[in-house]
Amino acid sequence: MNSKTEEQNFIQKMREREAYGKRNDKEHNEMQIEFDAVSINEAFARTAVASFLTPLNPTLEEISDVKTAVSEAVTNAVIHGYDEEYFKQYRIRTEDQGEEKQTKPKVYIHCVLDGDVLHVEIWDKGKGIANIELAMEPLYTSKPEQDRSGMGFAFMEAFMDDLEVISEPGYGTTVLMKKKVGVSSWIEHEE
Ligand SMILES: Nc1ncnc2c1ncn2[C@@H]1O[C@H](COP(=O)(O)OP(=O)(O)OP(=O)(O)O)[C@@H](O)[C@H]1O
Ligand SMILES: [Mg+2]
Repeated sequence: MNSKTEEQNFIQKMREREAYGKRNDKEHNEMQIEFDAVSINEAFARTAVASFLTPLNPTLEEISDVKTAVSEAVTNAVIHGYDEEYFKQYRIRTEDQGEEKQTKPKVYIHCVLDGDVLHVEIWDKGKGIANIELAMEPLYTSKPEQDRSGMGFAFMEAFMDDLEVISEPGYGTTVLMKKKVGVSSWIEHEE
């Protein structure tokens, strides 16, 4: 009985693997990167996502839209997620635990190409956002003294098809964005 179940499981696994192999790689593709939360990595992040997008034959405009949105989200993680307040709290936390801060804070990006839709998830483990609704209002910025214009979320919303922000003060922020790329605009341009 036991070995029969094992055999069935094995056959099932082989079938799944075979089906997986037959999938068109362009139909589903995934990547994840993690990098130090420093401004010099913003260019790397937007180029990495744009390169990942290439198989979908995006238009120059689509590439530029995605790059802008990724740039804004990564800049926010670096500037707001891991700001002085975060470091102050972090120091208090690590002092409490009697250990020194060893690693630089990171920004994480997870991308999925699903058919002709790009899903981008960008997150940090920084200070988080207390009032997401207010933060997402165009022109709202918590750092006017740094000449921020409060337009980051508005740009992400304008350049992508879908934007969702999830955040928990003290734990970090996740930005989820979607954009249909390539095929449809290519057909539109053909007409
Ligand atoms: N990852 C994040 N962690 C913590 N707070 C954030 C994060 N992203 C955004 N915020 C908060 O949301 C506000 C609005 O963000 P938005 O990107 O729209 O404007 P900004 O960054 O202040 O200005 P701009 O993007 O125009 O330079 C920020 O001022 C900040 O308070
Ligand atoms: Mg911003």
